Amino acid sequence: MNFKRNILITGGAGFIGSHVVRRMVTRYPDYRIINFDKLTYAGNLANLQEVEEAPNYCFVKGDICDFEQVVSVMQQYAVDGVIHLAAESHVDRSIKDPFTFARTNVLGTLTLLEAARRTWKATAEGFAGKRFYHISTDEVYGALELQAERAEAPYGEALFEETTRYNPHSPYSASKASSDHFVRAYHDTYGLPTIVTNCSNNYGPYQFPEKLIPLFIHNIRHRKPLPVYGRGENVRDWLYVEDHAAAIDLIFHQGKLAETYNIGGCNEWRNIDLVRLLVKTVDRLLGNPEGTSDHLITFVTDRAGHDLRYAIDASKLQRELGWQPSLQFEEGIERTVRWYLEHEEWLESITSGEYEKYYEEMYANR
Ligand code: NAD
Ligand code: DAU
Repeated sequence: MNFKRNILITGGAGFIGSHVVRRMVTRYPDYRIINFDKLTYAGNLANLQEVEEAPNYCFVKGDICDFEQVVSVMQQYAVDGVIHLAAESHVDRSIKDPFTFARTNVLGTLTLLEAARRTWKATAEGFAGKRFYHISTDEVYGALELQAERAEAPYGEALFEETTRYNPHSPYSASKASSDHFVRAYHDTYGLPTIVTNCSNNYGPYQFPEKLIPLFIHNIRHRKPLPVYGRGENVRDWLYVEDHAAAIDLIFHQGKLAETYNIGGCNEWRNIDLVRLLVKTVDRLLGNPEGTSDHLITFVTDRAGHDLRYAIDASKLQRELGWQPSLQFEEGIERTVRWYLEHEEWLESITSGEYEKYYEEMYANR
């Protein structure tokens, strides 16, 4: 079959990547979607069962740091678009093991850029019709202050804009910032057709249970402590993962080359308030009397270099491409909690064995 487009999605077996792959495979039957993933601890092909038999989907197990392999896959499938999500993504792991983050996030992105440049340069059309889309994070901008409470802006007026100066604090955000710089450098130096987006915290089905929301749902269910870092006063801007996938689809097709777009939920929550909402929702859905799991909330040593507040100004994306989040947070959280409670097998398959050891050690050190 001749496909209209051949799109390489890196990190497609991870949390956000699996939503993007599912969306692209089902919405665009005339595109071939090549999921390129190393299947690290965070990659899970069970996330993609719904599309694994689709005629326009294929999976390649591979490492974005392996230049020869990336070039060979790009040539074999005549790739004309890259949506790059593969990364090490957990801040706490980056504090323990920064080198892995530099390797995957910086060298891996550079490897992909160079592979795309060489492969596309060698085609008859060169860079025409090609697109390299790099998915990044709001954490590259650093942290915002918490300001006096006001009804319209409970945590402060300041927001991250596309022009906000980069100021990363963790090894994770430093590695993502570096990768963003390489992507822009490849546009400015070689003319590679690139786009970068910086998104806020995602939540929803298939997120690895080391991240706050799935970890806490799992722990409430199993009556384990909920380790809230510091005093739980840090603020995050939460976006439902399918809204991020919709934004990625839109920007891949209609975003302007060389541009940066911020993506965010316009939905700020203090960690402790979010944790209380989770406790209430899980208890209600499990049929427990209200307050049953309140005692599980445990304040523990803060994360080193813990960013106080993230909040995104996504008005450029809204104005120029008409995107906006579709779900209210309360509805998104309800849907998410239900999903995890109904997919106990999925959670169990990754919270046993190696991961359990890692988590026990991480928690014991707090
Ligand atoms: P994730 O950790 O769930 O998934 C990462 C995926 O990348 C996994 O499938 C893993 O196997 C794969 N991978 C890792 N190293 C690889 C390598 N060397 N070669 C090939 N594949 C490799 O991550 P996520 O939360 O889905 O995040 C995806 C992307 O979105 C990342 O770039 C992250 O920085 C960015 N992002 C995440 C969020 C969020 O809230 N989760 C928000 C904004 C941006
Ligand atoms: O902002 C976008 C970023 O969001 C992404 O780039 C990252 O890949 C993603 O992991 C996420 O980073 P955070 O560090 O904000 O997410 P995490 O779920 O780890 O933590 C959310 C908040 O909850 C943060 O303030 C730390 C706190 N926390 C987290 C865990 C795991 C706790 O208090 N206790 C915990 O056990």
